[in-house]
Amino acid sequence: MKITEEKLQEQELKAKFQDASQLGFGRIFTDRMFTMRYANNEWTEAKIEKYKNFTLDPSACVFHYSQEIFEGMKAYAAEDGRILLFRPEQNVRRMNNSAARLVMPTIPEEDMLQAIEELVLAEKNWIPRAAGTSMYIRPTMIATEAFLGVHPSAEYTFFVILSPVGAYYKGGFQPVKLYVEDTFVRAAVGGVGDIKTGGNYAASLMAGYRAQQKGFSQVLWLDAKERKYVEEVGAMNMFFVYGNKLVTPALSGSILPGITRASVLELAKHLGLTAEERTISIDEVIEDIATGAITEAFGSGTAAVISPVGSLTFKEKEYVINNNQVGPNTQHLYDTLVNIQYGRQEDPFGWVKEI
Ligand code: PLP
Ligand code: COI
Repeated sequence: MKITEEKLQEQELKAKFQDASQLGFGRIFTDRMFTMRYANNEWTEAKIEKYKNFTLDPSACVFHYSQEIFEGMKAYAAEDGRILLFRPEQNVRRMNNSAARLVMPTIPEEDMLQAIEELVLAEKNWIPRAAGTSMYIRPTMIATEAFLGVHPSAEYTFFVILSPVGAYYKGGFQPVKLYVEDTFVRAAVGGVGDIKTGGNYAASLMAGYRAQQKGFSQVLWLDAKERKYVEEVGAMNMFFVYGNKLVTPALSGSILPGITRASVLELAKHLGLTAEERTISIDEVIEDIATGAITEAFGSGTAAVISPVGSLTFKEKEYVINNNQVGPNTQHLYDTLVNIQYGRQEDPFGWVKEI
């Protein structure tokens, strides 16, 4: 949906901005975008321009060999009017790691950050203010050179688009049901599962679609080699809570190193919880749910924030966690994280950047 700023004045749309559940995720885009081209070994033509379609040659590399990377971050409107980003330097760094893995040009970190900040400031009137809303930022790089041979493109476009968003999941902060996928795999060690590239999400669609048809929110992926170890969820990293201890799968090489994940690990320690990164098998998880050793579970991500997990279904059997209720540690971590992100609580970590 493309809505202009004039239209934004309309009552109906204004109402949407007051209600996180109405706003949904990633359907509304702001009036302007940042674009920059790469050719002859340099980035040129950096500009903020009207949000518009691209004209690309049908043989552009991105269409055929998916040489594409992206990031996901958010701008938050604080109650006192400040506009805050959350650890944006981490996204910029991860974008460059993704670029390097796909033989794409990197962008000086400070230039990428400046582009993002200038665009967000130019579009600041679009940042929604209702509870649970924010402005999702999507930096993206695509290979634009026209050819059909398999080799890295010599030309690229980097762009940033903005989308005012509410909750990622329809139910908002409600426990989600996950389907443990034991047939298809998302990514294998040595592949590109640890970077943000479209192909990982394309590979996930079939399993995600089937799970959704059966009423699940997302798939919980297992490792590609043995289908034995828990990896991550479609758009978030996974945490299991054992009383006052958090356990999250170690970064195996095929899991995205989530910035929210890293933040939750630090936050947990700050809140007096212990946190472990280790391999954890699905058999161990279901046994620990059945015996009650796992007291809570949740996923973490920029879009998903902290999403409580109410049950896992593995080989046709559902394992319910904490009676399908939001657990106390999940709630505490969620409250603390969002209070820091929205500038409602002191940020002892220096994570929040006012722009
Ligand atoms: N895992 C996948 C596959 C994701 O797409 C995301 C979202 O970015 C995450 C994990 C969480 O990462 P982050 O916390 O950096 O948003
Ligand atoms: C994010 O949380 O930023 C993501 O990239 C998830 C997404 C694929 C919607």
